[in-house]
Order: sequence, then structure tokens, then C-alpha cells
Amino acid sequence: MSEVGTDAVNTDELTRARRALQRGGPLVVLSGAGMSAESGVPTFRDAQTGLWERYDPTELATPGAWRRDRDTVWAWYRWREHLVSTAEPNAGHLAVAEAQAHRDVTVVTQNVDDLHERAGSRRVHHVHGSLFAHRCDTCAAPVDAGPPPPELVDRLAPPLCTHCDGRARPGVVWFGESLPEAPWEAAVTAVTAASAVVVVGTSGLVHPAASLPSLAASHGVPVVEVNPGPSGLGREVSVHLRAQAGQVLPALLDR
Ligand code: OAD
Repeated sequence: MSEVGTDAVNTDELTRARRALQRGGPLVVLSGAGMSAESGVPTFRDAQTGLWERYDPTELATPGAWRRDRDTVWAWYRWREHLVSTAEPNAGHLAVAEAQAHRDVTVVTQNVDDLHERAGSRRVHHVHGSLFAHRCDTCAAPVDAGPPPPELVDRLAPPLCTHCDGRARPGVVWFGESLPEAPWEAAVTAVTAASAVVVVGTSGLVHPAASLPSLAASHGVPVVEVNPGPSGLGREVSVHLRAQAGQVLPALLDR
């Protein structure tokens, strides 16, 4: 992807976006994989590299893949945990956290990493779960799986549950599964009560998360999109900023 800095952002668009956020009041940031791209965490639709090159992430992240080949899916998630734990929040995550100094900010993220929290954001709703919250695949009890192995492996047996004969699974939402109720309800409440919504780095294709920007717009809430590429969002967006999160969010969100 080419470098797109704020110099390349249409300054009229940036002015319009800043104006949309000016009303004060609660701000909601909806983030997707593009938010963490500049931290070195590959987006879902980016080609994978190395050992995982031949796997399609959208096929590994399914209950069917877990039934067919649990050890491969577990190894992939443990590798992603390792990758995320060695990554650092980027300027975009930091700008979102810093905005809390002058306004009420809620983050609703589809990301299963913890980079918003590590940047300092205090209210973060993970609508697709978390890489670090393992639970039993049978009784749903939390399972402590310990740290991920630092070396790359392509198969790994998940640990046994201590309550039943189930196995640890990643605490993330797979394709075809329902979203966890509490963060989803918090997300709906936040976007409908917001004074503005900033959507960052999501393809806007995976529902129901992709419906949150149009829900906001239907409540008269202005929606600013930050994405250097195309997305599935359309008329619900009031202003598009065609730039990378880390490069434009500091200019968009400063006081
Ligand atoms: P995707 O990987 O589908 O899309 C990433 C988006 O980020 C694309 O629109 C890119 O153009 C954009 N992007 C890339 N680099 C960027 C940058 N530096 N700054 C801003 N934007 C950038 O990611 P999501 O939309 O988050 O779900 O994917 C949604 C869900 O699909 C994921 O949560 C996951 C996946 O399957 C589950 O696991 C249930």
C-alpha cells in the first residue's frame, strides 16, 4: 500500500471532517483491522505470509475449521497472539486515546487485539471478542492457556478444560457465530447516542458490525470514514478521508 499522509488528504475534506466532530458530546470510534495495520498486524483481507501463506483466514475463522482441524486453528490463533503481543499501538490508537482528555470517547472495535487498551483507551467494546480470552469449546468456562509459544508451529493441541472434557478455544467470534451480547448492546447504545462517529479501517462487509455506521446515520449522527482504500460503506458516510489511520487521526482528533 502506498504512503498516504495528511499532506495528501484533501484539506477541504479534513476541514469538513473536523467540523462534523466539532459539536462536542460523546464521540464513538468504530475500528476494524486497518486500525492495527500500521502496527504490523495484517488485516483480514491482506495476503498472509510465511507458514500461514497457504491458508485463507476467512476459512480458518470458522466453527467448521475447528471441527475438522482444531490443532491447525489453535496454532494459527496462538501465532496471532504472539504477533499482537510483540506489536505496539500506532499513532492512530494513540490519537484516539488522547482525545479522551477533551471529550467522552467510546471505542467499538471488531479487532481481537488489545492495542486500543494498550494505547490508553478506557472504554473499549470488543464486538468480535478477544484473542486473549480463551474459553472451553464445550462448557464455555474460561481456560488459562498460558503464553503462546514464541516459535512458529503449524499444529498445536489446545489444552484441556479443567471442568469437562472440552478443549480451550480462542475467545473470538467466528464466521456464522453470534456476537457477544453485552459488547454488542453497548455498541448500539453508544452509536445511537453519539454526537459523531469515526469509522476507521474496516471493509464494512461483515455484519452485523457493518450496520453500525448506518444505524448512527439513521439517528442523524454524522459519520466520518478513515480508509485509504474502498469499503462497503456508502451514503451513510458524511465525509471520507482517504488516508491511513496513523497519519490522519492525530490531525482529525486533536483539540
Ligand atoms: P478487513 O481486513 O476486511 O478490512 C481492512 C480495511 O482496512 C480495508 O478496507 C482497508 O482498505 C483498510 N485499511 C488498510 N490499511 C489501513 C490503514 N493503515 N488505515 C486505515 N484503514 C486501512 O478488516 P475488517 O473490516 O475489520 O471478523 O474485517 C471485519 C471482520 O472480518 C473482522 O473482525 C473479522 C473478519 O473476518 C471475525 O473474525 C468475525
